[in-house]
Amino acid sequence: SVSSAFDFAPNLFPLSSTAQGYTALGAPSNPALDPSNALNGGSLEKNKSLTYLNGLSLVIGLIIGSGIFSSPSQVNRNAGSPGASLLVWVVAGVLAWTGAASYAELGGAIPLNGGAQVYLSHIFGEWAGFLFTWCAVVVLKPGSAAIIAIIFGEYIVRAIVGAEAAEASTWINKGIALAGLVLVTLLNCVSTKLGTRSADVFMFLKFFALIGVTVIGIVVAATGFSYNGPANDDWKKQGWFEGTSTDVSNWAVALYAGLWAFDGWDNVNYVTAEFKNPTRDLPRVIHTSLPLVILCYVLANVAYFLVLPTSLIESSNTVAVAFGHQVFGPIGSLILALLVSGSCFGALNATTFTSGRLVYAAGKEGYFPEIFGTIGLGKSHRAIRLHSINAGTSKSRIPKKVVDWFADADAGFFFTPIAAMTLNALLTAVYVFIGSFDTLVTFYGVAGYSFYFLAVLGLIILRVKEPELERPYKTWITTPIIFCCVSLFLLSRAVFAEPVQTLLVVAFMVAGLVIWFAWVGRKRGKERSRFRRVEEQDDEKVGWRFWKRWRS
Ligand code: ARG
Repeated sequence: SVSSAFDFAPNLFPLSSTAQGYTALGAPSNPALDPSNALNGGSLEKNKSLTYLNGLSLVIGLIIGSGIFSSPSQVNRNAGSPGASLLVWVVAGVLAWTGAASYAELGGAIPLNGGAQVYLSHIFGEWAGFLFTWCAVVVLKPGSAAIIAIIFGEYIVRAIVGAEAAEASTWINKGIALAGLVLVTLLNCVSTKLGTRSADVFMFLKFFALIGVTVIGIVVAATGFSYNGPANDDWKKQGWFEGTSTDVSNWAVALYAGLWAFDGWDNVNYVTAEFKNPTRDLPRVIHTSLPLVILCYVLANVAYFLVLPTSLIESSNTVAVAFGHQVFGPIGSLILALLVSGSCFGALNATTFTSGRLVYAAGKEGYFPEIFGTIGLGKSHRAIRLHSINAGTSKSRIPKKVVDWFADADAGFFFTPIAAMTLNALLTAVYVFIGSFDTLVTFYGVAGYSFYFLAVLGLIILRVKEPELERPYKTWITTPIIFCCVSLFLLSRAVFAEPVQTLLVVAFMVAGLVIWFAWVGRKRGKERSRFRRVEEQDDEKVGWRFWKRWRS
């Protein structure tokens, strides 16, 4: 049975081993990565129980997060009119849809855990996989956590002290964002279970908030109530497309904001291994979940437009609070502020969990300094561990029940990748400190779509290079082509629209390449030549397979 996304934690998260005995970073499996290990949140291959409906709710839950409650402002400001905004939301959704379909094909053709890192290594060579891991650790993971933390901060400040204080200083918002980050990181350092137990509640919160906005919007519109203000604030008096931006760069920025709300579609593959019947159900899940999310987002935006003046939608990242206020007054804004901040807290928790495992796997693989591939608190850890393992006996004051509920009974508290999560929290804090929602969304989008583009381009290359490769699911070839064209447009416009963020992403990528070719890659090259000598003495076929296994 399926109760939450975290029941599948081992599959959602890149660290886990797969049936083939591979790990996230493609190396042969390692006992430390044993899926039944506490670190991975439970056992992996226990049940292949995912049905179509389970998959559907899981994927929708992965995608919906902070974006639909925060992006509308940036989408509107840049698209210029309600009609253009809705168009941007649809285009962003369709782009995510083609991306998810393409990733489904890649996931079937290269059935190893690890997502883009594995696909890129297989298609372009290990340097590309390293570059992805590097950017995921220094840009994508902390960048997305920072965006979610900032939205968490803005919503919770509005819930507690009201809009005036929230607008008075961004530092209050940022302070709360940082506090949330610290809290979530601490929770995840103490215990894996503590972090994952609460997931159901948060999942529920965001569905509730989104469905609330959409349904209320429709009801309100149907009963004739809708915002009616001065003509320059009321698009109904001006027409749908009045004011539409004519600058393509603005459209690109609007798209990045919309794409943030749809992001997470690349995680769809992590649930594949859990399907009872993946060949039939994975495409079905993709082709219903993404249209459903698109529909929900478009309806939510229509609801915002019906109830709020466009100037208000554009003025803050907390559109749901304004919405609640307009319909139900102060109570409405409080309820929505609480729902959305709760949903963001849950998302922050989930992303801290996955980031910790990603950095940990990178440390184990030798992609990052060894310390990040360690568990627990180092030397002082033994005492704490024994203390919790002995729970319930005369040696410990901690009742056994407590340990069983929060931590792994065989491993105890603090049996988590603490160094890895600390690195992630520090980087996230830096982004929260120097960034804002608007700047970070473009920064994240440019970095993210560079790799999505490469991976989907890789799919096309793979069709040509390895046509015989077994593909349980095959998209129309137009799907990846559309995806590549639109992403290329987005990436090429970013340079003009947001030069600072784009250059920063390029700088990180160059740094990653330098690190690979000057250092990490060389080190691995040496290891491999030693490996190859052994291999040559072997039967050629076995050797080849070995090498492929090592490489993929
Ligand atoms: N779509 C999500 C939101 O609106 C963001 C997902 C973050 N990305 C990720 N790969 N986890 O908040």
